Amino acid sequence: MGSYADFYRRSIEAPEAFWAEQARLIDWHRPPEQILDASRPPFARWFVGGQTNLCHNAVDRHLAQRAQQPALIAVSTETGAERTWSFRELHADVQAAAASLLALGVGRGDRVLIYMPMVGEAIVAMLACARIGAIHCVVFGGFASGSLASRIEDAEPRVVVSADAGSRGGKVIAYKPLLDEAIRLSRHKPAAVVLVDRGLAPMDREAGRDHLWAELMVRHQGAQVPCTWLEATDVSYTIYTSGTTGKPKGVQRDVGGYAVALAASMKHIFDGRAGETYFSTSDIGWVVGHSYIVYGPLIAGMATLCYEGLPTQGLDRQPDGGIWWQLVEKYRVSVMFSAPTAVRVLKKQDPALLKKYDLSSLRALFLAGEPLDEPTARWISDGLGVPIIDNYWQTESGWPILTLARGVEPQQPTRFGSPGVPMYGYRVKILHEATGEELTEPGQKGVLAIEGPTPPGFMQTVWRDDARFVDTYWKSVPGRSVYSTFDWGIRDAEGYYYILGRTDDVINVAGHRLGTREIEECIASHANVAEVAVVGVADALKGQVAMAFVVPRSGAAATDADAARALEGEILQLVSARLGALARPARVHCVTGLPKTRSGKLLRRAIQAVCERRDPGDLTTLDDPGTLQQVRALLGA
Ligand code: PRX
Repeated sequence: MGSYADFYRRSIEAPEAFWAEQARLIDWHRPPEQILDASRPPFARWFVGGQTNLCHNAVDRHLAQRAQQPALIAVSTETGAERTWSFRELHADVQAAAASLLALGVGRGDRVLIYMPMVGEAIVAMLACARIGAIHCVVFGGFASGSLASRIEDAEPRVVVSADAGSRGGKVIAYKPLLDEAIRLSRHKPAAVVLVDRGLAPMDREAGRDHLWAELMVRHQGAQVPCTWLEATDVSYTIYTSGTTGKPKGVQRDVGGYAVALAASMKHIFDGRAGETYFSTSDIGWVVGHSYIVYGPLIAGMATLCYEGLPTQGLDRQPDGGIWWQLVEKYRVSVMFSAPTAVRVLKKQDPALLKKYDLSSLRALFLAGEPLDEPTARWISDGLGVPIIDNYWQTESGWPILTLARGVEPQQPTRFGSPGVPMYGYRVKILHEATGEELTEPGQKGVLAIEGPTPPGFMQTVWRDDARFVDTYWKSVPGRSVYSTFDWGIRDAEGYYYILGRTDDVINVAGHRLGTREIEECIASHANVAEVAVVGVADALKGQVAMAFVVPRSGAAATDADAARALEGEILQLVSARLGALARPARVHCVTGLPKTRSGKLLRRAIQAVCERRDPGDLTTLDDPGTLQQVRALLGA
């Protein structure tokens, strides 16, 4: 028969046979001796004994057949730069970059932190790390010095690769001062900093520490740096993500399992084929960028488009919602990946822009990172005339958990509002939040959980903190050792799943995952803030925005509107400077007290409900009803 249901069943009933077959999609220097070692749950070790290399599979492997074909296309509508690397050119540049890192003392297992805008060099740097077995830690360029400092401290990189600046909507954001400040704040100091100079912002360079990328590349031009064969279970990278605490977690990924998972997903889920062009509008600072800008498409032998710019602006800074479609036409993009927020931004523009370009190369548009609302899905589906595939996953999983496998015939129909069905390898369950009992009836709401062993590509652990990995993810559902996604979900009678928001304090702003605790800790550091609560509030464009409520320590801010405005301004400034504009709350409201239980627990969900003009539910534990009344009054709710 060969339906998706059969494909899925094989992956669950005979995972080792299933994944042994998938493992043939990549090159191995030494084949694995054991497909899965699940002897120490919840840790799953895939392809034990095998040796391979991500860079080899992404670049070198394709030289025999497609050396002259495009591999990396970097386009910036901010600077007008546009450059294509063939696989041969990418191979040469990655080796020069690898030689540069080696010369700076980077060895196997050392960390290299990458803090860069969307330029081709960022991808070259990632691949260079993978080539020599260095662990890359890419930090989103939109984060500011405080966020960057805590990541530098946790990752302890030997080298940081960065740039003079990024640009967004014509506004130059200088990275170097933010990086210098972050290094100053961090207890760990990198031995060297490598800087791509784009000529956008002046840079002070620290003698002995700071190097120019271009100079190193010239010095090491023509270098031959063979791939270091790594154990399948070695660490390829870490990427930081937010959770319930203020301290971001370093999600750690392996080498072999990740390579196989991505190769399999490119074939079965994305239906991307070698020689074609793939375009994801995400950023290398996020997991989507790691999996589906850099490694996935390249492993599949596709050219990948690295785009800097907004979806709505061309070089002349005039709104032009056509830029993405112009790129699709020009580079004959076959598979595209974006986020619902970006589509909602486009929706505000002239729909004729969609018809202006030849989009006949495009087979499907995948959207992920936040709930896809039906009007947005319908609008873009009608406009493009190709299937819109919602996919649900997380930084932790590395590749889709719920979606529709486009590469497995017969293709399953899409269903608006649902990302789809569990992907092969994932034992997805809906569990009762209090009892841990499995909810098997259609329409029952519970915590979306995954039963181990987790499939290849899934996070190995939290960087240097196995206990945190186990305690955070595997002990949150009472009475069961299952991985919690911290999302609410339901399943319908046909087995399609629906995601109903987070169970924890994580919020999702324009597809970007943020922890409210991190924002609270930042705001609490303001001298005039006694207490603070940050909640995520539904927003038509961004999905959610952060809303802050603060109790001022002194002064008139709680009662005087002008004083409150002044404090709000200072707090917004503080959050932008420390965490980045992304984390900046939409509003900061001053109150005299926060809604808490009698035992002092903050009632975040009640605040959120009031902000969204919903019923706050059971308030019997609320200590002082006046506090919630105040929130209501402020919002005019
Ligand atoms: O709450 C879910 C939401 O985003 C979270 C994961 O965010 P992040 O780690 O940044 O990974 C994004 C990878 C695509 C999830 O826990 N989320 C992600 N995709 C969807 C989603 N919510 C609804 N529908 C989705 N398709």
